[in-house]
Amino acid sequence: MAFDRRTFFKGLILTTSAAFLAACSPRNSWEAGEGKPLFIPPLMEGEFEDSVRRFELTAQAGSKELIDGSTTPTWGFNGDFLGPTLRLYNGEDTAITVHNELDEMTTIHWHGMKIPARFDGGPHSPIEPGQSWEARWGINQPASTMWYHPHPHMKTALHCYRGLAGMIILDDVHSVALGLPQQYGVDDIPVVVTDHKFNSDGTFNEENDPDLGLMGDTPLVNGIHQADFAATTRRVRLRLLNGATMRFFNFALSTGQPFHVIATDNGFLQSPLEVESVLMGPGERAEIVIDLVPGETIQLVSDPVEDNFGIPTDGTDFGFQDSFVLMNLIGPTEESPAVPPLPEELIDDYELDIEGAPEREFELDTFEINGQLMDMDRIDFRITHDGPEVWKVTNANVDWPHNFHIHNARFQVINVENQNSDAMATYGWRDTVGIPPETTVTLAVEFGQYRDPEIPYMYHCHMLYHEDEGMMGQFTME
Ligand code: C2O
Ligand code: CU
Ligand code: CU
Repeated sequence: MAFDRRTFFKGLILTTSAAFLAACSPRNSWEAGEGKPLFIPPLMEGEFEDSVRRFELTAQAGSKELIDGSTTPTWGFNGDFLGPTLRLYNGEDTAITVHNELDEMTTIHWHGMKIPARFDGGPHSPIEPGQSWEARWGINQPASTMWYHPHPHMKTALHCYRGLAGMIILDDVHSVALGLPQQYGVDDIPVVVTDHKFNSDGTFNEENDPDLGLMGDTPLVNGIHQADFAATTRRVRLRLLNGATMRFFNFALSTGQPFHVIATDNGFLQSPLEVESVLMGPGERAEIVIDLVPGETIQLVSDPVEDNFGIPTDGTDFGFQDSFVLMNLIGPTEESPAVPPLPEELIDDYELDIEGAPEREFELDTFEINGQLMDMDRIDFRITHDGPEVWKVTNANVDWPHNFHIHNARFQVINVENQNSDAMATYGWRDTVGIPPETTVTLAVEFGQYRDPEIPYMYHCHMLYHEDEGMMGQFTME
């Protein structure tokens, strides 16, 4: 067999960086067992009545000890901070009633869902304080990890930052038969990552930085700072959700060892993909599978992005060089049973047929899309057919990252021009994609087929400060 130079040099780089890390240990690490046990958000399966699966969520204010020794005023759903995980099933009629017990208006959006516009929960569906709102629709899309969060006009970042976010696990007949870890909180673990800035009295620092909005310096996993997860199985499936308002996380393991990505935003990859890191911008999800060694602790970390996501290092610091330990993954005992190989095929995937599909172009520039700021009263375009479309999205800035999210849709990234960063993740079905400076991505987009000439869907940068400043547009499906 020929000598593989690439693997050799990769190995060399890994060794050097591991030595470098050990030498200056820039991370906020702690010993296994000295952190707080990872909090697992309660699982809600709803009440099945008259062929409808029903849920109730209440947005409310509370407080929680997020960092040691101080109490932070927070917001949450059905609790103090974050919300329960909703388990939904494809093919079912679903109804979710949301009560607003906050003292200001909010909305709740089901991120990743194909759903009629009036139930999408965007800025056109306000829930006033003391009021309730019901979303009711039939689910028609494959298994995936999604999430719910507020979407009020110009205030999405703040509402998310205060703690209004929860995970959605959508299952289907196929996903539950794959032999993947699926025992919630045991081997199938929600990992909701947010970041915050704290004032000395423990309150959230809610001052918007003119470049970075509410980007935080302290990451939390399911609301826990320095979390320990003590595994009882050798194989764990982590459902990663980047719920931060502005920060990209470059998820990796402290040992540099590879792991498998099995799903992105909107469902399974065709086959498990072996990677050493996965870069995720705000709003993105990925499901990863890690095989732990009994008696050994490894850490889920966020690593610096080698090429800084194509952003000049002498400009604004968007945090691409930061590194964090997010949680300890403590291996199980020797007695825990060995695991079979991962399935080779997860789904029978396909490429969207985009022959003759309409094309649109979007240019992201500072806070604008195609030279315009968001206007609630302006419909940017109307989609009057039931096929896919091709969207070319350009980040026209030279020193700012952006990402791009589309409601009521999922897409495949079919081309990248002027790819300015090797770290960008383009594989799998997505509803959100990170775009480095001066880079164009071409998306093949498949829409949910619900018609409504009045109420629009949104597309926007999911770096929430950008979104709130106006980096959003509206389309209808008619
Ligand atoms: Cu996660 Cu328009 O939203
Ligand atoms: Cu969304
Ligand atoms: Cu942006």
